[in-house]
Amino acid sequence: KAQLTSRILGREIHYFSETDSTNNEAKKLAADGCPEGTVVVAEAQVSGRGRLARGWFSPYGKGIWLSVVLRPPFSPMEAAKCTLMAAVAVNRAINAVTGAGCGIKWPNDILCNGRKVVGILTEMSAEMDAINHIIIGMGINVNIEPFDFPAELAATATSLAIASGHQVSRLKLLTTILAELENVYIPVKTSGFGSVLEDWKSQSITLGQLVDVRGFDRSFTGVAINIDVDGALLIETAQGLERVLAGDVSIRPA
Ligand code: BTN
Repeated sequence: KAQLTSRILGREIHYFSETDSTNNEAKKLAADGCPEGTVVVAEAQVSGRGRLARGWFSPYGKGIWLSVVLRPPFSPMEAAKCTLMAAVAVNRAINAVTGAGCGIKWPNDILCNGRKVVGILTEMSAEMDAINHIIIGMGINVNIEPFDFPAELAATATSLAIASGHQVSRLKLLTTILAELENVYIPVKTSGFGSVLEDWKSQSITLGQLVDVRGFDRSFTGVAINIDVDGALLIETAQGLERVLAGDVSIRPA
């Protein structure tokens, strides 16, 4: 039976049948002073948002469209690492619950059989040099069928049901995600990101691969060799070592 075992995450849960975006709802709650660990979930989003001003396909009842409000005692510089932390937690949870064999593509996509199954959008509000709150938005494609996806996603997206061959309990998955996120967040809060970086590396499908990077101002190709303490991806190119903090990375098929 699915039970909430986390103590901080989910101490307040706001459930919507439909909303524009759970990140927008979470942002309003955070601005009104909601406690850390407040969770927003919706059955459907009508304007789900993705990274880089993209949309996020969020059909009714077939996914987990989730936002979590955290108030970490960190500087804004460290927000990227909160996203890595979320990717580790979600990846652990989906593999434990479904056995689908998913991995993390830098910085925060989760892929199964080369297709995207989870996207994470972290948004932050900071004052001076301290984070006021951070909203970790996660879109998990759970029971979406191949014919549900719009044409533009048909070749690049998948769901846990497709990857595992069976329907997945969203409630079991949600409670596991919250438990895993809390399991990584508590040590990160007290002793930093060291432990989570190692976990991220071991779950990464990007490290060791030949990748094409499309940054905001430059593009290049190289081998992803590591991530550093800031969560940046280190890429060995013909011209030398490049460091990427943000941007789009695609893995070249072997
Ligand atoms: C990406 O582009 O990969 C990030 C997608 C993030 C989608 C989730 S669904 C819940 C939350 N609310 C949103 O509007 N977006 C995030």
